[in-house]
Amino acid sequence: MKIGDLKLKNPFFLAPMHQVNDIAFRILCKQNGCGLTYTWLINPLTREELILDDKPAVQIAAPSEKGIKEFIKKYENKASLFDFNLGCPAVRAKEQDYGAYLQRYPSKVEKILKTMKNSTTLPITVKVRKSPHIPKLMKIFDKYCNAIAIHPRTAEQGYSGIPDMEFAEKIKSKTDLPVIYSGDVDENNALEVLKKFDFVMIGRKAIGNPAIFSKLIRSKASGHAENQRFSSIAGNAQKLGISGTPKTWNVFHQYLKLAQKYKIGFSDIKFHALNFTKGMDGAKKLRLEISKAREIKDLKLLFER
Ligand SMILES: Cc1cc2nc3c(=O)[nH]c(=O)nc-3n(C[C@H](O)[C@H](O)[C@H](O)COP(=O)(O)O)c2cc1C
Repeated sequence: MKIGDLKLKNPFFLAPMHQVNDIAFRILCKQNGCGLTYTWLINPLTREELILDDKPAVQIAAPSEKGIKEFIKKYENKASLFDFNLGCPAVRAKEQDYGAYLQRYPSKVEKILKTMKNSTTLPITVKVRKSPHIPKLMKIFDKYCNAIAIHPRTAEQGYSGIPDMEFAEKIKSKTDLPVIYSGDVDENNALEVLKKFDFVMIGRKAIGNPAIFSKLIRSKASGHAENQRFSSIAGNAQKLGISGTPKTWNVFHQYLKLAQKYKIGFSDIKFHALNFTKGMDGAKKLRLEISKAREIKDLKLLFER
């Protein structure tokens, strides 16, 4: 199982997600066996110092090749591969001609991917959305990339509506490159999707649930989907009258330990804390308490055993 020369342990990847995939969350997913984690989209001209101790796939988003060579040289030793974003549907992307909106300019896309390929020996991938421009771009991808990730919704669809799997299958049939499928993949359908594609990305279903990766790995080994949910509830949740069992591991404390090590901001920690309550009976009450938290100490109390 490879993308270029990069060997992958399994076909279950964490999809790039803006303001979700901080390093603590990526490490948590990796600890649960995730085959490859992604950063969120990063402008190569950023002045921010990236912390990439976990060697993720680093996703670049830009309207031109400006700064890409320097960015790749700077982070080459800390990345598993470099991905280029041709899927971002945001208004800002539309205004600045990057993400999904750059697909309209094949010559710009070619310049960028060529620059990426010439800047590193690491694999280069692209992540695209469905659009009428894809057939034209395929030749460029085949020339410069080692894999294609496809989220087959249009930019207009955003994250709703049914992803067009047939569109993704057409891409798969037109290239020899490995294809990574993204869009509503979960523990129930991942194995089916993998009959059609080389890899799958899990996005929203991994938020608050990094254990989805260990479940998927076990499902793959046993050949069928596993429905049991890992609980992430801890002691004080019970004191609040919230049902559920404090289970084998406490995902919040694992996340918090990493988040403190990497100095993740409090609002991001709170975001993940809120999501770790997903799927619990009566989680509303705990979420209300979490939303009132003003500092880490408050959160720790709520999740105390
Ligand atoms: C909060 C959020 C942020 C996202 N940020 C990115 C991003 O930075 N780069 C990217 O290529 N896709 C991004 N996506 C799209 C996901 O990678 C994925 O393709 C999409 O959510 C469909 O997969 P899912 O149904 O498993 O969530 C984002 C999605 C969400 C929900």
